[in-house]
Amino acid sequence: MAQFQWQDSFNTGITVVDTQHRKLVGMINLLDRTAVTRAPEGTLKDVLVSLVAYTREHFADEERYMEQIGYAHLEQHRALHRGFTNKIVAVLIDLKEEKNFDPQELRTFLTSWFIRHILTEDKKLAALAARPELNTDAS
Ligand SMILES: [Fe+2]
Repeated sequence: MAQFQWQDSFNTGITVVDTQHRKLVGMINLLDRTAVTRAPEGTLKDVLVSLVAYTREHFADEERYMEQIGYAHLEQHRALHRGFTNKIVAVLIDLKEEKNFDPQELRTFLTSWFIRHILTEDKKLAALAARPELNTDAS
């Protein structure tokens, strides 16, 4: 499976967000490598635990930023974040209960969610940084 490559189009222009997004892309790739090399389950679990911890940290920072600018769609955005972390936590529970889990399916979920989320939701934040007058319920 090819590495998940960072694209210039992912940049939001909000430095802290972009730096954290890059790190998340690296962590998704690490997860992928770990699964492909059939690392022991404990290792896979450690990688997932780190991913969920860093994801939470990133989402908290992003949500703090949205609070600071009084983002009109904060709650919807927060719910999307919750959906993402819940998925990783569900996989961790499956691993713990020794249920089958498909690393390929997880990887596809993480990468497609991440790309879609950045390109649609996080980009709205970038647009608001440039044009705060767009920050209304109607947008
Ligand atoms: Fe986000």
